[in-house]
Amino acid sequence: MSDAQSSPSNFLDFSGKTALVTGVLDQHSQAWSIAKYLHDAGARVALSIQRKAMRRLMGDIPKLLGDPLIVECEVGKDEEIHKALTEVGQAFGHIDILIHSIGYAPPRSFEHRFVEITREDFALAMDVSAYSLIALARGALPFMRERGGSILALTYLAGERVIPGYQLMSITKAALDNVIKNLAYDLGQQRIRVNGLSPGPNPSRAATSIPGFSLMQEHVKEFSPLQCEIMNDDVGKAALFLCSPLAEKITGEIIHIDGGYNIMGMTLQRPEGRE
Ligand SMILES: NC(=O)c1ccc[n+]([C@@H]2O[C@H](COP(=O)([O-])OP(=O)(O)OC[C@H]3O[C@@H](n4cnc5c(N)ncnc54)[C@H](O)[C@@H]3O)[C@@H](O)[C@H]2O)c1
Repeated sequence: MSDAQSSPSNFLDFSGKTALVTGVLDQHSQAWSIAKYLHDAGARVALSIQRKAMRRLMGDIPKLLGDPLIVECEVGKDEEIHKALTEVGQAFGHIDILIHSIGYAPPRSFEHRFVEITREDFALAMDVSAYSLIALARGALPFMRERGGSILALTYLAGERVIPGYQLMSITKAALDNVIKNLAYDLGQQRIRVNGLSPGPNPSRAATSIPGFSLMQEHVKEFSPLQCEIMNDDVGKAALFLCSPLAEKITGEIIHIDGGYNIMGMTLQRPEGRE
């Protein structure tokens, strides 16, 4: 069937597809929205969580996802990554979709000036937030290489521009953006697409721990072309598109979900009389 003959809705049918979604912490997580959209579209979804003890924060999530396989995976440890990917890969037979929705910088690194960032904090934040995408992709490769796949990572505009307050996390996002592009090049030969989603500020547990977060959220709402709030639901929708055959020729891209905020060179009040 040619693309012209097939209905676009067929492209959003994920029956027979499998997905490993990392980073579901609670109902405010970007990863929760992505897992929900993938599940509702028919995919078999597995989750990985940092520590078993965090499971209680998930509330009804496992029930809403049809009691999925949940594996433990602290991404700072290669052996845990290997064990988690092998468990999911063997349970599913193959992994079509891998979602990387993980970020961390020590809280103390937000409390001082950028110039005071320590070598120790830098290494830890980069390891967890950026290197982990390489390690997870490598772990998924044996289960993706046969039929290709889609890898998606959550990034943020602070990797491209200066966002005051985002501090050390900014450097990890710049690195993550580059990892996305280099993985897209490296894995393209196996028909594995690698893309990034860059949402505007929306109130997850990680985001609200950043000092001044609510100011960032209000600012984007006021000055973005669409003057909208970003909800984690918006992230799920964009993820579904990028993981679907509708996006089969898209790789190495970073798509902003921010009401257009990223195109602005200067944010000023709209002139009087203009809506
Ligand atoms: N919320 C936003 O406004 C926003 C905007 C742009 C990008 N993002 C990105 O989205 C991603 C998910 O964040 P979120 O906002 O959903 O917050 P969240 O707190 O719900 O998710 C962060 C996740 O990272 C996991 N994590 C942290 N350290 C880990 C480790 N060592 N091993 C395994 N997992 C670890 C946590 O367990 C948690 O599940 C992050 O990469 C974040 O930077 C968020």
